[in-house]
Amino acid sequence: MKLIICFILAYLIGSIPSAYLLGKLCFHQDIRQLGSGNIGTTNTFRVFGFFPGTTVLLLDIFKGTLGASLPMFVGVAGKQWELVVGMAAVIGHCLPLFLHFQGGKAVATGSGILLAYNPLLFLVAAVMFATLVLITSTVSLASLIVMPIFTIITLLVKDYYLFAAAVLVTIIIYVRHLPNIKRLKNHQENMVHFGLVYYLNQ
Ligand code: G3P
Repeated sequence: MKLIICFILAYLIGSIPSAYLLGKLCFHQDIRQLGSGNIGTTNTFRVFGFFPGTTVLLLDIFKGTLGASLPMFVGVAGKQWELVVGMAAVIGHCLPLFLHFQGGKAVATGSGILLAYNPLLFLVAAVMFATLVLITSTVSLASLIVMPIFTIITLLVKDYYLFAAAVLVTIIIYVRHLPNIKRLKNHQENMVHFGLVYYLNQ
């Protein structure tokens, strides 16, 4: 029963559309009508700038971390439940109840689960992701590359619960990034204005 309540609460926490709320409250604009239209960190940086982008990044990571921490808060034993319940926050972020099930792409909220579950591996994934953004100048491409690499790392450290969660999050991220994959294939994907590929294209 406790776990079912945690699952529902985590879904509701994940459903809070931080980028949408920030856009409406601070800029009186609907982020879904701007940039890529995604209610995520990258689009918030793109449309509203550095501080709003950083705020949404932290809030979206926190949704995953808080969701994954719920079983511990109510005394449910077993690290694996952090992953299971955290996944509900990711589902909420992608399919939010409060925004007609039109949500984000799972990257920040998914990483928030990892922050709760294994902070050291979170740091490893964050460094890999940042390095890939600096090389490719493309956040979506970095997200798509880091997930399979991270999934292999979970096997190397022999954490099979984390492996299962990583496979699931990878599938969700790839499905949510289908429009990005199409743009990448057509060389039309949005780039950040820094990094190796950006400077090579100047
Ligand atoms: O996490 C989302 C990011 O990978 C891509 O976002 O706005 O460029 O579609 P966006």
